[in-house]
Amino acid sequence: MNSTIPQRLRVDFPAVQTRLNKEEEALLVEIIRHSPTWSQGEQMEAFEREFSQYVGCSDSLAVSSCTAALEMAATLCGLSQGDEVILPAHTFVSSAVPFARTGAQLIFADIDPSTRLISAELIKPCLSKKTKVLVVVHLYGLPVDMNPILRLAEEYGLKVVEDVAQAPGAIYHGQKTGSMGDYAAFSFHNQKNISTLGEGGMLAVRNASDGDRARKLRWMGSWPFTGNRKHYWQPAMSDLVSGMKGVWPFNFCLSEVQCAVGRKLLQRLDAINEERRAQAAFIRQAVADIPELSFQYVPKGHVHAYHLLVAQYDGSKSNCTRDDLINLLFQEYGIKCIVQYWPLYRSELFQSFGYGKIRLTNTDHFFDNMISFPFWSGMPKETLNYMAKSIRSALIQLRS
Ligand SMILES: Cc1ncc(COP(=O)(O)O)c(C=O)c1O
Repeated sequence: MNSTIPQRLRVDFPAVQTRLNKEEEALLVEIIRHSPTWSQGEQMEAFEREFSQYVGCSDSLAVSSCTAALEMAATLCGLSQGDEVILPAHTFVSSAVPFARTGAQLIFADIDPSTRLISAELIKPCLSKKTKVLVVVHLYGLPVDMNPILRLAEEYGLKVVEDVAQAPGAIYHGQKTGSMGDYAAFSFHNQKNISTLGEGGMLAVRNASDGDRARKLRWMGSWPFTGNRKHYWQPAMSDLVSGMKGVWPFNFCLSEVQCAVGRKLLQRLDAINEERRAQAAFIRQAVADIPELSFQYVPKGHVHAYHLLVAQYDGSKSNCTRDDLINLLFQEYGIKCIVQYWPLYRSELFQSFGYGKIRLTNTDHFFDNMISFPFWSGMPKETLNYMAKSIRSALIQLRS
């Protein structure tokens, strides 16, 4: 079998995961026509307020991407050369680069083989006197076991950054993801559970004073003058302030139209996630008796947001590999599955920065054997049925 394009691609891996409804589309036109500003207006303020209420954090800042939120979080952590940051290598590249950019050393922790997430147990051997920050990634939508990590952070005086790009609205023992760390970064890229028209993000903070610092960093230090001025134009349109000593500010703003869409989608997020859980349960159930495929273990008290539906394939009994499974699903069933996430230390980018010698057993094993099935919000029943039936028969076919 080779990997040429099959005769008929029946289930593609989608770029946009949640489409807008008619009311949301109409809102775009409304804002474009009537909003007094297209940037940093009442939609942004309302989105941030409603987001903080939803997550249960002190303050939130709408930003242009999750990567931007992580850049702000890394900056607010006050990292510098000689510091160490512990994080998983099994994640999207943005979980790491903003921390590396500060000059800190990245220390990659392995992942738990059942949840495929970082854990306190796997962080412990990475701790040193230089550790300053722990980055936890709620990957694929499953919340990390936070309590033991928060205890470690308290014991060693470390900051905790939650990467919530893939898990908005996921719940850990009654708490929303993003409400537990010092800082949390959310993504509204179009491949996420909700999207602000392709790009967007949110930085959530636990301490209100961090929100004030971050706001001054978000838009190039531009800030309203305080007190009365004799002439509104003197000395200039706005003040120019420092959010953090020694730090140059950014422009990471999110537009009014994007914030308006974000507000609407936030109201739908719980329903979107509920539907995604039902879709995942349907597929998982259809192959539950086939031991070759193992999905993420969801511990009690963890509510998965199912950004993606991933599993590990073990075809060793029949001498088959994950690539055989992906190829069969692609060629014979027209279902396009993919592989994620490149262990960062195995990429050319991280090798070029000297991280190439690292190897982590569980991370490497999962990457080499994982499969990510096409998944999006509102999958039609026929597609789910077709996928469930096809995955099942492909797995059985590979046994012979
Ligand atoms: C785990 C994780 N972190 C961060 C990001 C970066 O998100 P954005 O594209 O909004 O910058 C992503 C996006 O794929 C992600 O999956």
